[in-house]
Amino acid sequence: MEQRNISIVLIGMMGTGKSTAGRWIAEQLGYEFVDLDHEIEVAAGKRIPDLFAEDGEPAFRDLESAVLAKVLSCSKRVIATGGGAVLSESNCELMKRQGWVAALTAGAESIVERVREDQGRPLLAGGDLELKVRTILEERKDCYRFADVTVDTTGISAEEAGRQILMHY
Ligand code: S3P
Repeated sequence: MEQRNISIVLIGMMGTGKSTAGRWIAEQLGYEFVDLDHEIEVAAGKRIPDLFAEDGEPAFRDLESAVLAKVLSCSKRVIATGGGAVLSESNCELMKRQGWVAALTAGAESIVERVREDQGRPLLAGGDLELKVRTILEERKDCYRFADVTVDTTGISAEEAGRQILMHY
């Protein structure tokens, strides 16, 4: 496979398997894997639910943009972004300019099954999980369209999604 060096940026809704696919791709290419949510937690010195609860979502988004710019400054990385990193147009422009962008999608039912046991996502906490997932999917349906490639992960493993992404890289 031809090695392009440009960092791969994975975007997509929560529960589409960005982190698992990203780790697998990084291993195949010998690239460094970067989980944006983890880097945000390191920078903030607290977990994401605490960051949302104590400082609010706007503070989280500001930090997300700052950390994204920092991690995109190096090539040969696979960066798994948080599902909302695409809400900022300047983040999207930066991803396009500095990286090769792959979007992961999935149907609402698959997403609900994948995120059900995870307590770490404040936007999905409490209330009707399926309604929340469907609402956010609808709100963001156009936000992931700028990607260089899109892979539907419904019914396939994250590794298979990674394999499909690499076929286009
Ligand atoms: C968010 C997605 C999360 C995390 C935060 C907000 C979102 O990341 O960044 O809870 O707005 O979609 P994952 O997509 O990795 O779950």
